[in-house]
Amino acid sequence: LLAAIDLSQLRHVGLFSSASAVFGNTGQSDYAMANAWLSAVARKLAAQLPAATVKSFCWGPWDGGMVDATLAGHFATRGISLIGLQDGARIFADQILQGDKQDIELLIGDEWAG
Ligand SMILES: NC(=O)c1ccc[n+]([C@@H]2O[C@H](COP(=O)([O-])OP(=O)(O)OC[C@H]3O[C@@H](n4cnc5c(N)ncnc54)[C@H](OP(=O)(O)O)[C@@H]3O)[C@@H](O)[C@H]2O)c1
Repeated sequence: LLAAIDLSQLRHVGLFSSASAVFGNTGQSDYAMANAWLSAVARKLAAQLPAATVKSFCWGPWDGGMVDATLAGHFATRGISLIGLQDGARIFADQILQGDKQDIELLIGDEWAG
């Protein structure tokens, strides 16, 4: 997508990475690596586009989307809480519109041991 657009037009860039990129997750080394790469893309873009707000959101699990009932139960047994849809949306909007430009990589959610 980034290769197909005029980067100079961008003012706000929000990339959806994962807490797996920060803590790892058993059985998800490919997913963790892909999301860590996404955060690296964000840092590179931020350096390229000083006028833009660029953020990589390293989300813990949301209460929705790809987190189905089975996955939600898996997280519950590990004591990892889910991010509510309204809370996640508010955090996204606050950060992308008013967040500190220097904070490029944001970890949102509980910590866990990978
Ligand atoms: N949910 C979480 O807890 C969580 C946590 C950390 C990070 N993330 C990241 O956040 C992103 C969204 O997660 P989600 O939970 O919202 O996932 P989701 O509910 O599975 O939604 C994925 C979306 O991507 C679209 N999509 C999939 N393949 C596509 C393709 N080849 N071309 C265009 N669109 C495509 C789907 O479209 P259709 O509906 O038309 O299939 C769907 O709208 C993912 O990258 C995920 O890794 C999610």
